[in-house]
This record gives sequence, structure tokens and C-alpha cells, in this order.
Amino acid sequence: MLASRPHMAGPKPKRATAKAGEEREAPPSEEIRIPASIAERLAEKKKEQASVAPKEPKRLVKLRIRRQDANDRPDTRRWEEFEVPFVAGMTVNTALERIRKDPRTATGQEVAPPVWEASCLEETCGACAMLVNGRVRMACSTLVQEVAPKNQRITLEPLSKFPCERDLVVDRSRAFESLKQVKAWIAIDGTQAIGKGPRESQDLQAERYGFSRCMSCAACLEACPEYGGARPFVGASAINQAHLMNLHPTGSMQKVERLESLMGEGGIADCGKAQNCIDVCPKDIPLVDSIGAVARDTTKRMLFGWLFK
Ligand code: SF4
Ligand code: FES
Repeated sequence: MLASRPHMAGPKPKRATAKAGEEREAPPSEEIRIPASIAERLAEKKKEQASVAPKEPKRLVKLRIRRQDANDRPDTRRWEEFEVPFVAGMTVNTALERIRKDPRTATGQEVAPPVWEASCLEETCGACAMLVNGRVRMACSTLVQEVAPKNQRITLEPLSKFPCERDLVVDRSRAFESLKQVKAWIAIDGTQAIGKGPRESQDLQAERYGFSRCMSCAACLEACPEYGGARPFVGASAINQAHLMNLHPTGSMQKVERLESLMGEGGIADCGKAQNCIDVCPKDIPLVDSIGAVARDTTKRMLFGWLFK
């Protein structure tokens, strides 16, 4: 430890004196100069430490991405591999962002940046759904550490039940058409005053909240063995929305129409009860409960509907 004061350059600064009540002047700034011999020794020490310190190998995240140039170019379907530096807490979306900034494959070939959808980055909009290692997940909330804890390669593919638009982007129009089919809205909009609506109890609000968190990500549809291709099944998300609207005191005015839209082809009877939807839903929506409730309501309608015609 150095006991003596370091050498001060220039004349000794005068001590600032001030009487009580007067403002004290700030002392002039002093430049501290380290003697050359000490500076040399410090530099040597630094060099020594740098050569002795063990160099940690930089962890690279390996990603294999399915690419396709356009919807009508299935011939361009291919795999490309990328490597990006690992950062603690990084998500699949962050890794994709890194690749987009410097789109080079693991072999150094410069390619077009991969295309995917994302908006909220907080698992709210449902846009970033994709297959991560074969399972449907949200890119924005999937941690790299979670899907590749031992630095395994991460495989990214577009959802398989919808037409691929480009790379990881798919066209989910079919899922939105199903929402139209079940009238997943409350038809009360208008310009005229129609008075107060029916009241909703807090218990009912709490019950409906569980079903209301759907973000139309289509994860449940991707995982459903009954959904996709030429099969007309509307899927869990549309059935859940029908139940949500039927539970609402105002929405229940269209309950019969909703139930009838689910009593034909592609409706509730097409559910195979595989329950994959509940396993993959990122919002933990009790889909089995809403499907069960709609199944009971449609059965009642089928048996006793003629009474109300
Ligand atoms: S029900 Fe769940 S998995 Fe299905 S679209 Fe809604 S949020 Fe996604
Ligand atoms: S970006 Fe919105 S859910 Fe992932």
C-alpha cells in the first residue's frame, strides 16, 4: 500500500478561506499524476493478469430455421443454420433479432434476414407463434435457456396448419373465419340510446375472465389432431370464444345462433377430446371447460330446441 501522497504537479494551491455567511469558492481542480515507474509497474501487472486469467469460451446459440421465399414458392423451402452469441435471459425472439441485424449463416454466407411476426413482445398479441423444436410456442416468451439448456440446436419452423407466407410467417385467416362463424362478438353496437344493459355479477365476471384471455395465437389449433387440412373443425379457440360470449348477459341474446353454428359440420362434435389444446395454450385458458360447456349446451339445444321455435 502506498503510504505517501502522490506527487502534486505545480505550485501548492492556496487554501480557500471564507468568513461565516460568505460563499466558499470551490478549490481549483488538481490533476493527479502517477509517477512513471508506478505506471509502468501497473501496466505490467495488468498484462500479467490478462495472460493468466482463464478465457471463458463464448457460448453461441445455434439456430436452424426453415426458410421459404413466398407462399407460391414451395420449391424455395430450405433450412439455414445460424449462430448468435448467448446473452443471459435471451428469448427466441431476441435471437432472431440478432440474426436479422447480421444475417449470416453459421458458415459465414450472407443471406436475406429471416422473416417472422412479433408485436407486443409480452405474450399478449399472439403474433409470434411458431414451432420451436417441434412444439408450438411464443417466440417472445420462450427462453433460449429453457429450450436449449445444454446448448442444443434450436429448430424454428412456421406453424404447419396454416399456409406459409414467408419463412416463419403464416396466414391465420382460417382461424379468424371460424370466429366469424361462431359470431364471437356481442351484437349491440348502434347509435341509438337503448338504455342500460343487464347487470353482470362479480362471480360471473371472474368466471368469464378465465375464458377471455385468448390472443388468437392459434397454438391450440396447431396442436389439435382434428384441425387443419381439409377437415372443417373450427377448433378450440372459436368454441371458447362462443362460450365466452354466451356467458355474457347481453351476449347471450345470440346464444342460440352461436350454438347452432356449432351443431353442424366442423362444430363441437368434431372435437376428438385429445386435450392437446390445453397443454399448449400460453394463456392457460380452461379450454376443456369451455368445450365441455358448449357440448352440454348444444346437446340441450338439440334435444329441447324444438320447444322454443
Ligand atoms: S385458446 Fe389459447 S392457444 Fe388457442 S388461440 Fe387462444 S390463447 Fe392461443
Ligand atoms: S410478440 Fe406478441 S405474443 Fe409474442
